[in-house]
Amino acid sequence: SLPKKVSIIEVGPRDGLQNEKNQVPTDVKLHFIRALQDAGVGEMELTSFVSPKWVPQMGDAADIMAGAKRIGRQFVLAPNERGIANARAAGADSIAVFVGVTDAFNKKNINRTTDESMEQLTPLIQKMKEDGLFVRACISTAFHCPFEGPVDPERTVNLCKRFARLGVDELSVADTIGMATPQESELLFSRLKEELPDILMTAHFHDTRKMALANIFASLQAGVDRFDASAGGLGGCPFAPGATGNVATEDVVNMLERMDIDTGISVEGICRAVDVVASHVSRPISTGMYTLYKNA
Ligand code: HMG
Ligand code: MG
Repeated sequence: SLPKKVSIIEVGPRDGLQNEKNQVPTDVKLHFIRALQDAGVGEMELTSFVSPKWVPQMGDAADIMAGAKRIGRQFVLAPNERGIANARAAGADSIAVFVGVTDAFNKKNINRTTDESMEQLTPLIQKMKEDGLFVRACISTAFHCPFEGPVDPERTVNLCKRFARLGVDELSVADTIGMATPQESELLFSRLKEELPDILMTAHFHDTRKMALANIFASLQAGVDRFDASAGGLGGCPFAPGATGNVATEDVVNMLERMDIDTGISVEGICRAVDVVASHVSRPISTGMYTLYKNA
């Protein structure tokens, strides 16, 4: 049976803006974040403490942390010791680490193989857990890699189990380039729920091929009740060729609402937040609910 309540983790300020051609001004990002909070978003990825040489769009991470109101759970991404230290110095208490299942993607994204990343992250995660932080692990290329092709689900399950053994609080399992089908989504998340029933399990779908809502429905049927989504459908990893935006928050919330599943988020509120950034991003925003809102 389907859940009555679903948690949405808004990733627009991070995934949504990291891949933008334009540098969105910091005060616009802060206004965007405030509008998302006003829409009822309770969990959000605010920014990333990554190398500004690699991702200049996230170079204002410390200013974002200083300027954002602290409401609910607010994640920041961090790839290494330096990023975690900077995030903690900026007051972050919920950190998202990120690793790809495939070596080829992981090397392009964080310049290490998957095993090298795990070796480097192991003591860092242990320390964060000792210090009482919330640790989320984002698993990229969980279904398909832009360089290696299809990924055997058991490889993804095994990487998730390694993170679970380290005591992370949440896994966010990602279809980085939007290749997964509903059957693949149901299969992988059923396996993950079977192997790791006690960990917070989140699905992160990119909508490159317009399969994300179908994949969310399939994942709901596999028992997933947490989804990452990005207002306006913005997003994409700069190191995953072919990646486009995440599934749009306003469209996910609308679908769930119509299915009598509560998210605590207002579709109109999300559309108002999209208005804040729409003129600052390089692509037209044409999600289902935002288009209706603009034409109303
Ligand atoms: P590297 O070049 O191997 O790192 O990059 P390094 O340790 O040799 O450092 C290089 C330079 O960066 C040095 O500066 C460091 O000080 C600096 P220099 O001496 O040349 O002046 N540096 C840093 N500066 C600020 N913050 C830091 C930091 N670390 C080093 N944390 C590194 C390795 C991991 C740093 C780099 O590859 C990187 O920053 N990658 C980030 C990639 C990224 O942000 N990708 C997007 C997020 S993941 C994603 O979108 C997928 C997801 O949505 C799920 C999905 O859809 O799949 C989560
Ligand atoms: Mg992503």
